[in-house]
Amino acid sequence: MLEQDIKEVLVTREEIQEAVNRLGEQLTKEYKDKEVVVVGILRGASIFMADIVRAMDVYLEIDFMDVSSYGDAFESSGEVKIIKDLDTHLEGRHVLVVEDIIDTGRTLKYLVDLFKYRKAASVQVCTLLDKPARRVVKDIIPDYVGLEVPDEFVVGYGLDFEQKYRNLPYIGVLKPEIYQ
Ligand code: PRP
Ligand code: MN
Ligand code: MG
Repeated sequence: MLEQDIKEVLVTREEIQEAVNRLGEQLTKEYKDKEVVVVGILRGASIFMADIVRAMDVYLEIDFMDVSSYGDAFESSGEVKIIKDLDTHLEGRHVLVVEDIIDTGRTLKYLVDLFKYRKAASVQVCTLLDKPARRVVKDIIPDYVGLEVPDEFVVGYGLDFEQKYRNLPYIGVLKPEIYQ
């Protein structure tokens, strides 16, 4: 059913799994001696978050923050809104922000600045997908990237169009007639 709306599969389930395993190994090394708070950014990062923390063999805590820059719109509004804040006090804590995709970089810029302001001991960013062609905030460079994607509207594995397609088990490009 969902598949009918997909023009092309960009990242298969297997490729996602490989990226998760590779990032998990790197993050295990990074945080083996530093207890980390892993912060998943709702709602897009929810699926990746569940997989990446299970690929990290370290002591960690998880928390979630819900921010939105797109709402239900197709284009980023440029304005980041906090829907739900963290429950964890970050002062002196190592923070790993987990995102599904970095597009303009505005969401992450806002979050990284906020977590530094809250006196986190360190703030690093892990994103499954990076779309550098669309970057507006130039000083946002993710520390851990799964895959780079071209400038197309991608959905699946957490990424939505009008809140749908997040449950697609792979990452695909939406047929233009769906969003036009
Ligand atoms: C999407 C995506 C990232 C952000 C990236 O979230 O999940 O969080 O946009 O875009 P940016 O780099 O231009 O800021 P969205 O605001 O659509 O909310 P969602 O995660 O609930 O879908
Ligand atoms: Mn998001
Ligand atoms: Mg969205």
